[in-house]
Amino acid sequence: MEIKKVGVLGCGLMGSGIAQVAATAGFEVTVLEVEQKLLDKGFAGIDKSLAKFAEKGTIKETPQAIRARLKGTTSMQDLVECDLVAEAVIENIAEKKKIYSALDGIVKKDAIFASNTSSISITELMTATHRPERFIGLHFFNPVPIMKLVEVVRTIATADEVFDTGYEFGKKLGKVPVRTRDKTGFIVNRIMVPYLLDAIRAYEEGVGSIEDIDNGIKLGMGHPMGPFTLLDFVGLDTTYYITHVMFDEFRERRFASPPLLKRLVMAGWYGRKTGKGFYDYSDPANPKPNKL
Ligand code: 3HC
Repeated sequence: MEIKKVGVLGCGLMGSGIAQVAATAGFEVTVLEVEQKLLDKGFAGIDKSLAKFAEKGTIKETPQAIRARLKGTTSMQDLVECDLVAEAVIENIAEKKKIYSALDGIVKKDAIFASNTSSISITELMTATHRPERFIGLHFFNPVPIMKLVEVVRTIATADEVFDTGYEFGKKLGKVPVRTRDKTGFIVNRIMVPYLLDAIRAYEEGVGSIEDIDNGIKLGMGHPMGPFTLLDFVGLDTTYYITHVMFDEFRERRFASPPLLKRLVMAGWYGRKTGKGFYDYSDPANPKPNKL
């Protein structure tokens, strides 16, 4: 099956990134949002990112040529012709199911539905549609235009042809796709989340300071970011949500939220996006660890 037209649901951080890489790869892309101002915000981020790539000469076309393949809409009807719909809306099962169910009756029957969810079961999401065999996970990583990986997730119902098309689509986006099954957390979060939670526990137990644990991992293991910088980058609310889904699935302590993560989330300290998390971002170029 050939993918030509791509629909993206949600123009937040992940949705706008997916839309950008799809348009850069030559696909016609329509992005659906609930309000025009959310489209404007997402498209402004795309413009900024494309300008950086253009400056470095890492894109073959001008940002304008890429942008000409990107349309925003607030009407589901505009997705009727899409061959693949990539969903990146809020991590809320009821919300996602509501959108899938509505779109199922609009988008052409042989189109593929793909979710960018980080932890919600693809199997559960597919039940909101009448196309379970045409449903996959396509899990991208933040920042989508930079990170090379996409996890391609199959359920017990996914047709081989659909899974292969999803895998090839990942390659066409310039990503390295990896194949995985619908088990909560897939490959990366299954391993990354317990690691991040363990860093919080190590801090709670006084093993080291936030900065020293970050530097230990960054310099001792060659990671681009230490665990606390990464937690603030991913968002503590997002991580907290993922821990709940994973703990619910596996019932293992390694997936359970440490008390400090819960306290930070209760306080509204979600990381970079709120200006405060494990670090304080009052001076964004020079984050200072908070006294926790
Ligand atoms: N578009 C274009 N260029 C971008 C960009 C974007 N969206 N974001 C960053 N860049 C560019 C910067 O402009 C910069 O360019 P330069 O070298 O010419 O100045 C370059 O990328 C490097 O960025 P920075 O100097 O700001 O900082 P870093 O060198 O630290 O790189 C990073 C930033 C790429 C984010 C790097 O720190 C990194 O790889 N961090 C780890 C990210 C990670 O692990 N992501 C996965 C999170 S988990 C996830 O998403 C799954 C979910 O389910 C939880």
